[in-house]
Amino acid sequence: MKFNARTHTCGDLRESNIGQRVVLNGWVATRRDLGGVIFIELRDRYGIIQVVFEPSYNSDSHEHAKKLRNEFVVSIEGIVRKRPEGTENASLQTGFIDVMVDKLVILNQAETTPFQIVDNVEASEDVRLKYRYLDLRRTEMQKNLFLRHKMSQITRKFFDSKSFIEVETPVLMKSTPEGARDFLVPSRLHKGKFYALPQSPQTYKQILMVAGFDRYFQIVKCFRDEDLRADRQYEFTQIDVEMSFVDVEDIFLIVEELMKIFFKEIWNIDLQLPIPRLSFDEAMEKYGSDKPDLRFGLEMVTLNDVFENSEFKVFKESHDKGGIITGLLAKGCGDYTRNQLDVLTDFVKKLGAGGLIWMRVKENDLEAPIAKFLSDDEKQNLIKSMKAESGDLLFILTGQKNKTLSIMGALRLEMAKRMNLIKEDAKPALLWVTDFPLFEWDEETKRYYAMHHPFTSPRIEDIPLMDTDPSKVKARAYDLVLNGNEIAGGSIRIHNSDLQAKMFNVLGIGEEEAQEKFGFLMNAFKYGAPPHGGIAFGFDRLAMLFVGKSSIRDVIAFPKTSSGFSLMDDSPSSVDIAQLNELHIKVK
Ligand code: AMO
Repeated sequence: MKFNARTHTCGDLRESNIGQRVVLNGWVATRRDLGGVIFIELRDRYGIIQVVFEPSYNSDSHEHAKKLRNEFVVSIEGIVRKRPEGTENASLQTGFIDVMVDKLVILNQAETTPFQIVDNVEASEDVRLKYRYLDLRRTEMQKNLFLRHKMSQITRKFFDSKSFIEVETPVLMKSTPEGARDFLVPSRLHKGKFYALPQSPQTYKQILMVAGFDRYFQIVKCFRDEDLRADRQYEFTQIDVEMSFVDVEDIFLIVEELMKIFFKEIWNIDLQLPIPRLSFDEAMEKYGSDKPDLRFGLEMVTLNDVFENSEFKVFKESHDKGGIITGLLAKGCGDYTRNQLDVLTDFVKKLGAGGLIWMRVKENDLEAPIAKFLSDDEKQNLIKSMKAESGDLLFILTGQKNKTLSIMGALRLEMAKRMNLIKEDAKPALLWVTDFPLFEWDEETKRYYAMHHPFTSPRIEDIPLMDTDPSKVKARAYDLVLNGNEIAGGSIRIHNSDLQAKMFNVLGIGEEEAQEKFGFLMNAFKYGAPPHGGIAFGFDRLAMLFVGKSSIRDVIAFPKTSSGFSLMDDSPSSVDIAQLNELHIKVK
């Protein structure tokens, strides 16, 4: 099939091109056969343009055009003309002109597609994923991927301008502890041995600091075998960063400068610096989350003082056990029905709360099943602390501190939805969460785990607490949060082998195990490791938020479903016995 090279793309032509002879290539987006005249909208990556087949203009091509169906691939040649008055389409950039066709070459045919290639697609996500190549033909998906591309270009340009070097690190590596499950790759040559896919290049980037690279970044794939959610994929991309001779403030400066550029170039918003900060403890007490959404207020209030001497059994018990009493005020929700309150009670119970205390605020008094157990003083102090007014609804939860705060945090988000507090045009809310605990205690295994990873430095002033009360040690770790999403996390690292040994000790990792798992890193640290620290962005999440979506699948060309399937190529799939044999693997 002979066809001439295109002279323009489908998005190029304007009134200034009227009278020109052009060649266009593209897909048939829509087709209208009005008996005498056939109108085709031709689509490519750059736009959509109307082309016209009229028998009086060219009867051969008009005849040929009768064969066209949606998604056929064609090449046309013709003359650009001004659209007849009244037929302009202002919603298309090319909408004031069209092309009168005198030559049509059908480059390829297409079967009827399982769904229409339009923006408001009706197909289910599963169907879209199975036919991802069709889904990706849609303007909306193309826009998402272009924006992602733009963000990666901005990132590379930015880090390059700041003397960072992009270094590729291995995909087949030794397993690093980042808290998730590894994807393993069996070794053919070394029977019974496995590589792990990197959960992040954490150890490599630290070793690059030992190697003297000073400033490293990488846009890099990471792999974690964990339950998938709207903001989680098995394989995802990080903008990974590490710097030498720095403290927390230096990392913040670099990240804030990059965020300012993203805000300006993508959203045309002048981001005010510095980015606000909240400590982990504050974030938990006020918002019940280490990634609080600050696009709305709805702050929680700690009420331990109000109920310090309470006779009410539930509060008394919580007080005796060192628990927390936290309150949330839902303005103007005093008319919630019993049924609505039962639904909310179920909501918190499913998250592990014993129950939900609620009270309706009425003219300086409280109406609730538990009101009779509270003294007048307690009621008045509660109203005052919560700044409650007649017509409001109060929620109280009590129990073990962080668990109870998290549950109230979830209720806070639920109420924000119900009260419609997050407006479409809300100002994006960006913040740092700092001073994370270094360790997390696990009741089940009765041991401490590193909240970030075992290379995270404690605050220097907290080092003695590692011997006496590890739960009180704060880390030099930080997360960046945008609209309630954790978009980046990092820390200043331990670069001293004694401190690292102390860390392993608290984590219950013996010398032998440490040597076996992290010997290579600890060895590297023996030969002059500079003080260093870094951060990694979840690039998919960042792109998702900047395009205004709520699932990272919308900014990933070929994502997995929430159950980990790739519907397009049907993976994971079975493999030949011969392949397994070669890898010394037997499937049970
Ligand atoms: P962390 O584990 O916090 O830190 O990961 C950094 C960021 O990566 C994103 N992220 C994910 N995105 C999509 N799917 C996932 N499964 C997923 N898991 C994490 C999040 C997160 O903030 N090596 C450290 C960084 C450092 O200390 O420098 C690390 O990987 O947005």
